[in-house]
Amino acid sequence: MTIPSVTLNNGVTMPLLGLGVYAPKQRNDVQQAVEDALALGCRLIDTAAIYGNERDVAAALAASNVPRNEVFITTKVWNADHGFDSTLRAFDESLTKLGLDVVDLYLIHWPIREHRRDTWRALERLYAEGRTRAIGVSNYYPPHLDELFETATVTPAVNQIEFSPYCYVPEVLDYCRAKGIQLEGYAPLVRGQKQHDPRLVAIAERYGKSTYQILVRWSVQHGVVTIPKSVHKDRIRANFDVFDFELTEADFQQLNTFFDNTRIADHPMDYL
Ligand SMILES: NC(=O)c1ccc[n+]([C@@H]2O[C@H](COP(=O)([O-])OP(=O)(O)OC[C@H]3O[C@@H](n4cnc5c(N)ncnc54)[C@H](OP(=O)(O)O)[C@@H]3O)[C@@H](O)[C@H]2O)c1
Repeated sequence: MTIPSVTLNNGVTMPLLGLGVYAPKQRNDVQQAVEDALALGCRLIDTAAIYGNERDVAAALAASNVPRNEVFITTKVWNADHGFDSTLRAFDESLTKLGLDVVDLYLIHWPIREHRRDTWRALERLYAEGRTRAIGVSNYYPPHLDELFETATVTPAVNQIEFSPYCYVPEVLDYCRAKGIQLEGYAPLVRGQKQHDPRLVAIAERYGKSTYQILVRWSVQHGVVTIPKSVHKDRIRANFDVFDFELTEADFQQLNTFFDNTRIADHPMDYL
């Protein structure tokens, strides 16, 4: 399976579709899921310190035959570790658990108000030292980015936010595009909550695809990097099988109208 890539604002390439591994109740399954995904051709793995499974990702990488430089590994600094020195320490811990010398992308997981500027400064340091190939943020809406730009010396390469038709806020996508920030979407499948939405089912039937595949396709058709999570090989394969069809403009636009503010995580605007 060949997955297209995007080029970030610093020239680093990143796969358009990858595997999320947020699975607190299924830690034992994460290593196998990552091994399965790598075997299927997935080259982007999205983890985070708080997921508690960076060691499982490392074990999967070690067990696979995929060369390190072909895999894009993202991890994130957790809220409790914000601040300049504590972020540097948290990064070291993540790197050790991942068994890596360099990560591909390091993100601020949430914009915790008190320390997010210092945390960004720490990410800039890590980037300058070449310990992460790109730095970015997560759950940042335009006001958080406006604030970051007041002091930042590096523009975030990526902003990872919740992104599905049901929480689609075009202004955030437009803002990031205008600033050269690649948008990455999490929870693209809305954790299955919308699989029976009759409007989504009707679209899926027209393409002979599942509702899950339509949601993944909608994200990639926006040019948004997306990271559906599954620990089942057949589902991972299906979620990645979205490059043999294209949503018509009418269906794409209809999906763009599904906003009902369904979110599986907090609203970033609660973090002003
Ligand atoms: N930055 C942030 O704050 C943040 C927040 C949340 C998530 N994330 C990242 O985004 C990733 C994806 O989001 P998510 O895990 O919250 O939700 P998601 O990808 O929208 O949905 C995952 C759920 O859907 C199920 N599923 C997946 N494919 C399926 C299929 N083809 N058929 C039926 N069920 C299917 C999975 O179950 P099985 O595993 O049992 O198949 C799992 O319960 C996370 O893993 C994490 O890496 C980031």
